[in-house]
Amino acid sequence: MQIKRIAVLVSGRGSNLQTIIDNIENGSINGSIEVVISSQKEAYALERARKHNVDGVYIGKGNFPDIDERNDKIIKLLAEKEIDLIVLAGYMNILNEKIVRLYRNRIINIHPSLIPSFCGRGFYGERVHKAVLDYGVKLTGATVHFVDEGADTGPVIFQKAVEVDFDDTVETLAKKVLKVEHKLLPLGVKFFCEDRLRVHGRRVEIDDK
Ligand code: GRF
Repeated sequence: MQIKRIAVLVSGRGSNLQTIIDNIENGSINGSIEVVISSQKEAYALERARKHNVDGVYIGKGNFPDIDERNDKIIKLLAEKEIDLIVLAGYMNILNEKIVRLYRNRIINIHPSLIPSFCGRGFYGERVHKAVLDYGVKLTGATVHFVDEGADTGPVIFQKAVEVDFDDTVETLAKKVLKVEHKLLPLGVKFFCEDRLRVHGRRVEIDDK
């Protein structure tokens, strides 16, 4: 099986990116990160890429103020690097529809709740955990899913629940969920790289033999 060529799109600290790097380095993921693209110039994720000799590129409003030029630049880079899989690891932008169409069922996102709860437009970062606490649900979690044209609406690959304790704050909940994200995202990437995910409409069949 050919090693999958991966692009990771980030905006911030990049702890999810780090788990993919680590799982490639320890041999668990049969893939290689060809490029890390950050929408933020100062993202620590770019530093993590550099430390592991991975190409890190800033493509954001600062150097490409025009949204079409920005997206074209991303598309060009993905094509140049012959990318098989795009991973959104804390990428705080909604991906351009053209990219979604070009990479149908080849884009994976991690979301810090149990989709379809607490997701969609406006539900990102700490806002997700605040909404969970405000609502008073007893379970939240993390979801790995394929990306379609909507916001957090693509087929679900893996989900894992996290219990919400009465004493939880946004910070403690974010920490508990992040721990689960760090297991679930590399697992999704691993299964993709081994051709073990099949999409049937909205449902994803997992080959776990
Ligand atoms: C994660 O909680 C992710 O689910 C969310 O943003 C956070 C990114 O964290 N979309 P990191 O940059 O991977 O550390």
